[in-house]
Amino acid sequence: MNAPLIDPFARAITYLRVSVTDRCDFRCVYCMSENMTFLPKKELLTLEELDRMCSTFIGLGVEKLRITGGEPLVRRGIMTFFDSMTRHLESGALKELTLTTNGSQLERFADDLYAAGVRRVNISLDTLDEDKFAAITRWGRLAQVMRGIDAAQRAGLRVKINAVALKGFNEPELPRITEWCAERDMDLTWIEVMPMGDIGNEDRLDQYWSLKDVRATYAENYTVTDLAERSGGPARYVRLEETGQKIGFITPLSHNFCESCNRVRLTCTGELFMCLGQEDNADLRAPLRAHPEDNAPLEQAIRAAISHKPEGHDFDYSRRRLDGQMSRHMSHTGG
Ligand code: 5AD
Ligand code: SF4
Repeated sequence: MNAPLIDPFARAITYLRVSVTDRCDFRCVYCMSENMTFLPKKELLTLEELDRMCSTFIGLGVEKLRITGGEPLVRRGIMTFFDSMTRHLESGALKELTLTTNGSQLERFADDLYAAGVRRVNISLDTLDEDKFAAITRWGRLAQVMRGIDAAQRAGLRVKINAVALKGFNEPELPRITEWCAERDMDLTWIEVMPMGDIGNEDRLDQYWSLKDVRATYAENYTVTDLAERSGGPARYVRLEETGQKIGFITPLSHNFCESCNRVRLTCTGELFMCLGQEDNADLRAPLRAHPEDNAPLEQAIRAAISHKPEGHDFDYSRRRLDGQMSRHMSHTGG
């Protein structure tokens, strides 16, 4: 039996987030620029390489896999990959296979995802207003996502809505979004907008809506109780006493969850990021491609990478560009 992945701070690494493509059929203003240059195909891990990479991590104790992008469901043939992960669910080595999606392709894929063993999906949705949705995603159509959400629930997938909190944008919609989630029995998490990538002329500071203020807005409309419960991830939760709903808050810029961090992120080109807030990464594609028959070099590279997982992120200013933004796009590291 392989020794599990333990980092220098005694944290077991059991959760792998995998970006399977940098592409997306949307162009959300806080995520991408209008004219994105995407990676050439040869840079991407093939579906077979993704399988081998994930299977290796699972062999090293990873129990939870989250597939992200870009938009994972626009990767051609991606269901082949989901289907190939089913064997790890069946063996019991993998406890959960999930994905984060913009919902645009769920009408087509929801049943297949369920059949592959997916039971929960996170769907990114910031507004219920058609025009606002078109504005924030640039290329998205709300009706298509709504059909995707319907299909997901019909297929038996548990849905969580992730909304990026944007001041002056979805701020007035907070009660409506909250009630909509309650009616449909969907969980809801608000995400603070992160200073990532390059969003051209959009001024992110104008959009910044701190989750403290989101919580305060809830307190104006509901009786809000803070919950001690943590999911092991970055989310903190409150309960709305009137509806019984549990609402999540993710503040990516705060330190509060680093002690319990159990995750690493693999990009679609096979770089392993040990921490979302730092640029430090390890190239796993090279050992994977150099040794098609022998997994030992890949395993060694993974262990070496984990052995310098940092204690915590600080969105270290010395590592940032002068404009204070991370030079990576969210679609590269995976949301
Ligand atoms: N800040 C916060 N969340 C972001 N996402 C993308 N870019 C950002 C950002 N700058 C989120 C999306 C989605 C996932 C792909 O990442 O809302 O949930
Ligand atoms: Fe696509 Fe998600 Fe980025 Fe929007 S936030 S452009 S849906 S990857």
